[in-house]
Amino acid sequence: MSVALDFIFKAPMATLPEKGSFAWKTPSNIALVKYWGKYGMQLPKNPSISFTLDACFTLTTLEFKRKQSKEINFDIYFEGEKKDGFKPKIWQFFERIQQYASFIINYHFIIHTRNSFPHSSGIASSASGMAALSLCIMSMEKALNPTMTDDYFYKKASFLARLGSGSASRSIEGPVVVWGKHQDMKGSNDLYGIPFPFTIHKNFKNFHDTILLVDKGEKQVSSTIGHNLMVNHPFAKERFNQASKNLSLVSETLQNGGLDAFINIVESEALTLHAMMLTSHPYFILMKPNTLSIINKIWEYRAQTNAPICFTLDAGANVHILYPEKEKTRINQFIMNELLPFCQKNHYICDRVGFGAKQIL
Ligand code: PMV
Repeated sequence: MSVALDFIFKAPMATLPEKGSFAWKTPSNIALVKYWGKYGMQLPKNPSISFTLDACFTLTTLEFKRKQSKEINFDIYFEGEKKDGFKPKIWQFFERIQQYASFIINYHFIIHTRNSFPHSSGIASSASGMAALSLCIMSMEKALNPTMTDDYFYKKASFLARLGSGSASRSIEGPVVVWGKHQDMKGSNDLYGIPFPFTIHKNFKNFHDTILLVDKGEKQVSSTIGHNLMVNHPFAKERFNQASKNLSLVSETLQNGGLDAFINIVESEALTLHAMMLTSHPYFILMKPNTLSIINKIWEYRAQTNAPICFTLDAGANVHILYPEKEKTRINQFIMNELLPFCQKNHYICDRVGFGAKQIL
């Protein structure tokens, strides 16, 4: 754990004003090889890789004001309204990061946050939300220690974000991020995400992700419960090995532009994630009938047209449709004509691969 020790805040070199604020806009991400199963303090049982998104983001402003008492203290507003319901998760995050960012207890925080996507869209905001908060905390730390390098800044931001939500570690940089130790990925480790360490083939530049909102309700099973069900899961060991192999394969396709191989692994990963849910105890199903209808339509369309289109799934019913920039006209037409009827209220989001978080303030 020597690396974690590197992330412990040392004495400040400068002083912060009595009060101030920082703001960050941070993207959501979609995993190509899925993280499902963890150990210790939010460490992944297998490495994962994701596309950083662009249109789906969280915008968070962190106002800080110096106080006398030495305890965690904050208020949270979501879309302008006070949201005490969000407090426990953020409280837990602050508690977990306190040993790495001890200065937080000297401040009262007012957090204003909003998402570009509707709250009840079934799109998880924990990745982009925790990443945004972590970057705001890192901006404070940088103000206290102005000589900090960018490399340290982004690594520690990902490290802190991971403590809030594992996949948040992949919502700091872009366009492709690897989290979890993997022999082919230099610098990869379980503590924080790193940018994909190879050149990405032009086929994947500006790659599209159209998100079909099949079910906008609350998930019946949280990802925390899902991860825990991988402990003693009968297929866990095989799954974790498979994920590592799939990461090598995805890495090759991202470098050589092999779309057929990419499609094959990405769809298999999505179905395997859900297969783990189907075969855990207790077992559960997050896909909905329309999820399967969409998948079948994509397969039919691909068989008829040879178009390089594929789907992936999160821990939910929504479908992410991935395709290259140069195919966007015909594939968009297919989505509008054939797939929108399966979405709740015809709702969908046009997204694409993005380049990571941006400081706003
Ligand atoms: O970050 P968490 O704990 O919400 O887990 C996310 C898990 C998946 O979205 C299903 C997969 C992934 O790698 O993002």
